[in-house]
Amino acid sequence: MTRLAIRADLLDFTADPGWAASNDNTPGLRWRPGHWLLIENGRIGGVQRDAPDAAWTQQDRRGKLLMPGFIDTHVHMPQLEVIASYGTELLHWLETYTFPAELRYADPAVCAAGSSRFLDALLMHGTTSAVVFPTVHKASVDALFTAAEQRGMRLIAGKCLMDRNAPPGLTDTLDSAERDSLDLIQRWHGKGRLAYAHTVRFAPTSSDAQLALAGRLLAAHPGTYLQTHVAENRDELNWVAELFPDARSYLDVYARHGLVGPRSVLAHGVWLDAEDRALLGREGAQMAHCPSSNLFLGSGLADWRALEDAGAAVSLASDVGGGTSLSMLRTMADAYKVQALRGVRLPAWKALYAATRGAAVALGLEREIGSFDLGCVADCVAWEYAVGPVASVRDAAATSLHERIFALMTLGDERNVMATYVAGRCLVGA
Ligand code: GUN
Ligand code: ZN
Repeated sequence: MTRLAIRADLLDFTADPGWAASNDNTPGLRWRPGHWLLIENGRIGGVQRDAPDAAWTQQDRRGKLLMPGFIDTHVHMPQLEVIASYGTELLHWLETYTFPAELRYADPAVCAAGSSRFLDALLMHGTTSAVVFPTVHKASVDALFTAAEQRGMRLIAGKCLMDRNAPPGLTDTLDSAERDSLDLIQRWHGKGRLAYAHTVRFAPTSSDAQLALAGRLLAAHPGTYLQTHVAENRDELNWVAELFPDARSYLDVYARHGLVGPRSVLAHGVWLDAEDRALLGREGAQMAHCPSSNLFLGSGLADWRALEDAGAAVSLASDVGGGTSLSMLRTMADAYKVQALRGVRLPAWKALYAATRGAAVALGLEREIGSFDLGCVADCVAWEYAVGPVASVRDAAATSLHERIFALMTLGDERNVMATYVAGRCLVGA
């Protein structure tokens, strides 16, 4: 039995705090300052005010913040190399920077090095779980799952399905896609904390037959997920309309093949219409909102509230390398700005919920990740409230908890991470 107790200001959520939530008594917010989080064999065993007895290893982080590790619901493992690439919108960016970078992942050694680097970077940024795009290459999935297993991380991923409109060397075929997917599902899905996601890159790079295959695989393998991009950019939207003239909308291309359901994680959704949003709500699908990517690539401003009003779950995602930081705090700060341009203010509670318990609920994983509920796996991160003179003076001036945490969300990043724990093991910091 391993027993670790951490004292800090514990912040997590028991429910969605909603939008009108800028005060400190918001329902759903659970704030336990200066408490001990008890971790037994990697799981949350309790929370208490008093120090535990000598049977427990104690880490006293008094005055620091401890939250559940963040969940990034859409991010690309092979794209650290192309983050911050200048000057283009989505389709040109893919061709110019992203596809060439992903071609290098035909080499298993590149996959192994890239996967380790990527997961270590996530952990350094305070993210302990993610829904990840590797590349079309089977070796990239093997390498990513191997690296996640070594670190004990909860990870969802699967090989990219793309059988057209991409360079040779970055495409599969109907047969190879099915063979590779089945082999990967059999070897990795449900192994430890890993789950498989059928990974349709986006509608333009899959034939109708391949989309149908993805639908069959999703239906045939309970517990697997579906991830893809949808309605991110206007040129992309026009291209999809040309490629799929019978579809009512971009989302409909996926819906026709059974790809929009409770286990679907759809990135972006900037250019959805009301009928699309209603479909997402009816089917219980999840939108991964990627504000930094949408700003950087000039894609547009996703309508978080309209999605939620239609019943769709909305989580937060970095979408690196279209996004410009793996930090979920920076992602939240960008989400605030995107929503502000739509005339909506995003409370810190709502943003933090979306990156922790909200994402966990949407993924069907709330009994494992996203909160300090008893029995959950102890994936958590200790944070400095403020780093540097500007953040420090702002922090000192805060007169409410929301004000303080909102300043952290707006000014903070990976420099604020003191320690990252996965299943109670400290993998970053000390
Ligand atoms: N659409 C298809 N592929 C990609 C990708 O790699 N990044 C983003 N942001 N959008 C995509
Ligand atoms: Zn993406």
